[in-house]
Amino acid sequence: MERTYLMVKPDGVERGLIGEIVGRFERKGLKLVGAKLMKVSLERAERHYAEHKGKDFYERLLQFITSGPVFAMVWEGDQAVGLTRAMIGKTNALEAAPGTIRSDFAIHTNFNLIHGSDSPENADREIRIFFDEEELLSYDKAIQVWI
Ligand code: TYD
Ligand code: MG
Repeated sequence: MERTYLMVKPDGVERGLIGEIVGRFERKGLKLVGAKLMKVSLERAERHYAEHKGKDFYERLLQFITSGPVFAMVWEGDQAVGLTRAMIGKTNALEAAPGTIRSDFAIHTNFNLIHGSDSPENADREIRIFFDEEELLSYDKAIQVWI
């Protein structure tokens, strides 16, 4: 089973889209194994977005992600990383396919509502930045045989 780190960004929380976004992953059949509303510290933001350090949007990105609460989540399932990236859509809302979260609700690349890990390796790294091991639950679903 694969795990991925997903995070409703401050714009999604402020716009009241947590439920809409969580509902999509629930209906897909993925399993929620951890979640919390939190403020992202500058230190965590820098670790999370280390790959973008030096890019022209980096400082603005740090400012944005630390500007208000985020809803941090860990989801589990077969191919969870690829499936959730597909459901989120491309970074730029103009290029995101219809039916994806970013196409349906976002306008700006800078404020694109949700983060999703782009590889299983980055998922492990990001999960460790935002969650302690005891915050992640292992449990069986009664209907897991279907998915
Ligand atoms: P990136 O990892 O390229 O996108 P994604 O979130 O789809 O994995 O970039 C991280 C975030 O940085 C992105 O969600 C929004 C922000 N960003 C900008 O503000 N401007 C840009 O030109 C890019 C590429 C990203
Ligand atoms: Mg990325």
